[in-house]
Amino acid sequence: MKRRAAVAMALIGSAWAQAPASTPVGDAQKGKRIYAVDGCYQCHGREGQGSAATGPRLGPKPIPFSVFSQYVRQPTGQMPPYTTKVLSDAELADIYAFLRALPAARAVKDIPLLQK
Ligand code: HEC
Repeated sequence: MKRRAAVAMALIGSAWAQAPASTPVGDAQKGKRIYAVDGCYQCHGREGQGSAATGPRLGPKPIPFSVFSQYVRQPTGQMPPYTTKVLSDAELADIYAFLRALPAARAVKDIPLLQK
């Protein structure tokens, strides 16, 4: 019994190490579609890369989910708000999963064209 508890604690511990407890499990594939349909890409780019003129980079390492969702619900700058009427919490979690799953940018030294 004690041993089982120890295994359970170890499992919980490793889950925490991967993502903060407040990070919901989302579906990255669905998130990619919602990100496009709801127009996030228009200001943040199709790959979340951002653009100086329209909106900041969002991925591949997005800000913590609590801060992320707070901003999407109640932005303080030029971004339009997305309330739960137009974007559910589950959909927002899917968008977040999509942004987390984006591949990291390659290092400059690994891009042949930039070595010329
Ligand atoms: C009309 C343009 C526009 C659209 C559409 C838009 N954003 Fe933004 N977003 C911005 C701008 C501009 C900022 C920078 C802060 C500001 O001015 O509000 C921003 C900031 C953010 C931030 C905070 C980033 C940070 O590092 O602080 C998040 C998160 C975010 N947007 C997520 C989204 C998501 C998710 C969607 C789609 C559901 C979306 N945005 C749609 C323009 C947009």
